[in-house]
Amino acid sequence: MSDDVKILFDNNRAWAESVKTDDPAFFEKLAAQQTPEYLWIGCSDSRVPANQIVGLLPGEVFVHRNVANIVVHTDFNCLTVLQYAVEVLKVKHVIVVGHYGCGGIRAAYESRYTGLADNWLRNIRDVHFRYREELDAIADKEERLARLCELNVITQVSHVCHTTIAQQAWSRGQKLAVHGWVYSLRDGLVKDLDCSVDGLELIPEAYRIVG
Ligand code: CO
Repeated sequence: MSDDVKILFDNNRAWAESVKTDDPAFFEKLAAQQTPEYLWIGCSDSRVPANQIVGLLPGEVFVHRNVANIVVHTDFNCLTVLQYAVEVLKVKHVIVVGHYGCGGIRAAYESRYTGLADNWLRNIRDVHFRYREELDAIADKEERLARLCELNVITQVSHVCHTTIAQQAWSRGQKLAVHGWVYSLRDGLVKDLDCSVDGLELIPEAYRIVG
């Protein structure tokens, strides 16, 4: 085994030991069940790890990550995570977390060809196009990209809310709130984008699925 892979096993043994030192029954309890209250939908970026950023232990946050934290209604991977989190684990909060300096957002904005990924990033071009007037009014390009990161999160929050999964949960009277946050790589802090949705009445009529 090469050294750069072997070190991961060394790290793993040291980590498991330190966890057991703090709480000898930690792994036994976790192996029996998970009861996370949060679903984190974030970017795959290595600098945006869900648990560490919000100080949660294994077992406390269910996680789905993809390039540029996108929620697409035909993506069965993301929908499966969402359904399991809401219907089985009964998480109380779904949090879409974007981050400033997102390479996916930049690639979509700059129109350069990256290959297959462009088909995924097309979803961000939709956001760019929808908010083009607001974005064009921002003189500085980096500020415009930062705003596009925020607008992408706000859009993906609405996509979560428009799924059958969220709407059926609200129809059943299940407590569920969907939030949009953005993370700064520069200071490690998350900002709430004030676009939380916690009920069907906040969903535009055209997107409502009542059953
Ligand atoms: Co990113």
